[in-house]
Amino acid sequence: MQNNNLTKELFSNIKTTGALTFSSSFLVDKMLSQVDFSNAKFLVELGGGNGVITHQILKRMRPDAKLVVFEVNKTFCDILDRINDPRIQVVCDSAEILPDVLAQNAGAADAIISSLPFSLIPKPVRINIYKACANGIGEKGTFVQIAYSIFLRGEFKQHFGKVKTGFTLLNLPPAFVYTCINQ
Ligand SMILES: C[S@@+](CC[C@H](N)C(=O)[O-])C[C@H]1O[C@@H](n2cnc3c(N)ncnc32)[C@H](O)[C@@H]1O
Repeated sequence: MQNNNLTKELFSNIKTTGALTFSSSFLVDKMLSQVDFSNAKFLVELGGGNGVITHQILKRMRPDAKLVVFEVNKTFCDILDRINDPRIQVVCDSAEILPDVLAQNAGAADAIISSLPFSLIPKPVRINIYKACANGIGEKGTFVQIAYSIFLRGEFKQHFGKVKTGFTLLNLPPAFVYTCINQ
């Protein structure tokens, strides 16, 4: 499917995608600069979409690392399933089942990289996902989130030990990058 059609898919499902356009390369670079790829062996992406972040994660990942990508939209899952890389596993399901997937894998992730539209996800559900992410990165991992709103910062502060906030104008709309750790 062409990128124009994928953008239409994003737009026509705005209630679950929360975006009019996919993340810019500037935003993706800024987000991924927060991850220590040289030491990361198990990574998780939440909200893979058209794979704009996924491809850049795979580019930076170690040859022996594994990436699990969650996505709820079937059209996007089909696109992600076509990525020909033995290191990726696509879970066509909600990030709410993150704890089950972590239990089947390494138990903890070195990095969880998320573009989930949390402001559109009902509060009880998003709180469960925050808890799963905070548990999921353990003491050493990193959770990185891109978002268009500053309000998430307060919620992240309640679930992670430290929250660092970055910002870029080089995205439509301009976006925040939240980097959360537990130490
Ligand atoms: C803002 S788009 C980001 C797409 C792409 N990663 C990017 O950065 O441009 C959010 C994506 O999260 C997916 N999504 C929404 N709720 C989800 C959930 N509970 N679990 C997994 N994916 C979800 C949407 O279908 C959409 O593809």
